[in-house]
Amino acid sequence: MEQRTKVIVLLSNKGGTGKTFIASNLGVAFAQMCPGENVIMVDVDPGSRTTSMLLGPSTTPRKDIFDFFRDPEVLPEDAVVRSSVMNNLLVMPNVRGFEPHPSLKNKELLRKKLSLLLQFFDDHTSFAIIDLPAGKTTLHYFFSLVGTCYLVVRPTQDSLTAGEQMIGTLSNLAMKTLKRDERLIDGVIANAVIRGEEEKVRNFFKKHGVEVVQIVPYSPAVEEAIERWECLVTYKPDDPAAIAIRQLAAKIAGREGWEDISVQESRDRRGGVLEALRRMRILRSILRKKE
Ligand SMILES: Nc1ncnc2c1ncn2[C@@H]1O[C@H](COP(=O)(O)OP(=O)(O)OP(=O)(O)O)[C@@H](O)[C@H]1O
Ligand SMILES: [Mg+2]
Repeated sequence: MEQRTKVIVLLSNKGGTGKTFIASNLGVAFAQMCPGENVIMVDVDPGSRTTSMLLGPSTTPRKDIFDFFRDPEVLPEDAVVRSSVMNNLLVMPNVRGFEPHPSLKNKELLRKKLSLLLQFFDDHTSFAIIDLPAGKTTLHYFFSLVGTCYLVVRPTQDSLTAGEQMIGTLSNLAMKTLKRDERLIDGVIANAVIRGEEEKVRNFFKKHGVEVVQIVPYSPAVEEAIERWECLVTYKPDDPAAIAIRQLAAKIAGREGWEDISVQESRDRRGGVLEALRRMRILRSILRKKE
């Protein structure tokens, strides 16, 4: 059977938990992990920082997600560009915003657009990430595409409680749209966590039967990278938050250990160069002795 694209969405009830930071870096990590395959980032966040970061802050794409959903003639490939960060990372950019989007009221057009988008994912990509704004309003539109939902929370009481509410809201949504009592959250990503807070988050979600799939530590390098319009995983690959994002990518792809291999490979390459130099030196000394 043909392998379908894994579509991932990051959610939170409250803004600023780190969805955009994680989504954009996860996209780059997937692209690094699968050099022969394409990854796509669909930017639905009104801040459009993902678009600026992945395309360069001064690039204005010809068509964006707004044009795609508005104009019946625009195809996904018309509104998709290659990221300047990685050649195999595609971006459906967001320049004009997404909401309020008049054509979204046209149910038939919306359905057609979503099915075109899904077909594009399946034909051209292995992973698709949708960067949504906070809340559930926009999720409604993309609900039919989504394969895996992660909740992004911070380790504060407010954020944890908001996350809990989101789990409830999504169960209701499942009941309404799928007529099934189903938990739609596949896991929690705890972001900006400082040492000692991990257990607090894990225990909090245990009662809902939701696993914390990844702890992303707090790191000042996150802000540094954002200020430079760079992705953390390329700006500081050895930063603990970058390592956590690579771990998450490897877990989602079922390629656990890749994040260590990727670090090991670069060490091996370095090791390889040193070994070559050492051999050259030995050879030279042998030749000198012969002379
Ligand atoms: N692991 C982290 N360590 C330190 N700072 C972080 C971390 N993750 C995110 N931040 C900070 O939090 C800010 C908000 O993150 P981000 O924009 O990704 O949140 P968001 O969930 O996408 O917000 P919105 O709901 O508004 O779209 C970032 O600008 C960054 O400064
Ligand atoms: Mg965001």
